[in-house]
Amino acid sequence: MPATVLVGTQWGDEGKGKITDEIAAGFDVVCRFAGGANAGHTVVANGHKLALHQVPSGVMYEGTASVIGNGCIVDPEVLMEEVRMLEGQGISTANLMVSGNAHVVLPFHKDLDGAHEQALGAQNLGTTKRGIGPTYMDKMNRTGVRIQDMVDDEVFRQKLEASLAYTNPILQKVYGLPTYTADQLFDRLREDVEWIRPHIIESSTFINEQLEAGKKVLFEGAQATMLDIDHGTYPFVTSSNCTAGGAVTGSGVGPTQIDRVIGVAKAYLTRVGSGPFPTELLDETGDRLREIGGEYGVTTGRKRRCGWYDANVIKYAARINGLTDLAVTKLDVLDDFDQIKVCVAYDVDGKRYETVPEHELSFERATPIYETLPGWKSDITGVRRFEDLPQEARDYIAYLEDLAGVRVSIVTVGPDREQTINRFWN
Ligand code: GDP
Ligand code: IMO
Ligand code: MG
Repeated sequence: MPATVLVGTQWGDEGKGKITDEIAAGFDVVCRFAGGANAGHTVVANGHKLALHQVPSGVMYEGTASVIGNGCIVDPEVLMEEVRMLEGQGISTANLMVSGNAHVVLPFHKDLDGAHEQALGAQNLGTTKRGIGPTYMDKMNRTGVRIQDMVDDEVFRQKLEASLAYTNPILQKVYGLPTYTADQLFDRLREDVEWIRPHIIESSTFINEQLEAGKKVLFEGAQATMLDIDHGTYPFVTSSNCTAGGAVTGSGVGPTQIDRVIGVAKAYLTRVGSGPFPTELLDETGDRLREIGGEYGVTTGRKRRCGWYDANVIKYAARINGLTDLAVTKLDVLDDFDQIKVCVAYDVDGKRYETVPEHELSFERATPIYETLPGWKSDITGVRRFEDLPQEARDYIAYLEDLAGVRVSIVTVGPDREQTINRFWN
């Protein structure tokens, strides 16, 4: 049975949590494949509103296995906080599994993230300070600690010691920060480790066995195409491959196992953190989008930067991820706008671009070229069938579909699970 990948097409917070929750009922396994607790995925269902950082959004369904894949990094403290929150709400975490090859975010990774951002001053990336960059640095540097190292107390202590031998001098000499001992970290994480141990699996074996048995597997992306370490707006990106290719390396399945890739796109655009954003609105229209859309970070509470939909970004995401479907979210946020703008191209020093320019400096200088569409000026939050949307809203979706060259299979009109229009998803 082929697998499906779900990815963010913009700069994150497109509503991946909601779409994953919406479609997860049709899957036996939901697997996160990249990123860590920098993700903030909101799921609103059965009277619960949950913010998930580490746990896949499929956890809401009792029969669905939730896997944290090897491409992820795991902060045991955040994971345990989330497990307690879920159990407290009567949501079982018995089916939650963590890959032994996933790397562990340790307290000093968060210290280093904060210190590095501070050292960058005005040039900072605006990270979530969840220790993402430093943990992936340790992974690539081959000085990281993995989840499988937790299986044995002695091994875990040794791995912590080896990691500290490398990190303590950096903490002390580069940043003037306090150092750690292996005993300190071991004691701090002891309870978390005990919970994690029986949940450790080898994600590649598990998922491939599930596929062979005819089970349906969904890979839930975190972050987004424009935040991808290779394909995003480097250096203003996260430290993982959050595009569809990451689902292969971040879980251990072959690319031929995947036949559907759904990209999630907000009906307008937001970005949190630093970096270029051609369609950003620094005026009262941007403020209106923020207020109506509730655009404040799930992980950090920061104000999200807001702007118009950028078709160049989506076209680029369609290419990088090989999208077969699009889910357009938060269409209801545009209910009150007289006119809606869509960026259809950029002007860069007199040259027209209909995709994301390859060079960082060109992207920074890109001026959007807009088409203006009429708004529908009515409340669509109760609509459940595409045919029942006002003509202008259907035209807007058809226009986005045309520009992307990808069909829009799902449209959402509110945060609840039910506020979803399923056109072509089955
Ligand atoms: P993610 O990181 O991609 O999962 O997205 P976030 O959860 O960070 O941000 C999406 C926000 O929009 C959350 O607060 C959702 O509850 C909310 N949301 C999702 N879909 C809709 C929608 O169709 N309409 C409205 N008004 N809100 C939505
Ligand atoms: P979800 O999964 C939006 C951004 C940060 C910063 C940059 C690097 O909820 O869409 P990091 O902490 O990863 O080193 O920060 O990436 N960022 C996100 N922005 N949504 C996210 O996740 C993000 N995860 C990271 O704001 O600009
Ligand atoms: Mg989010």
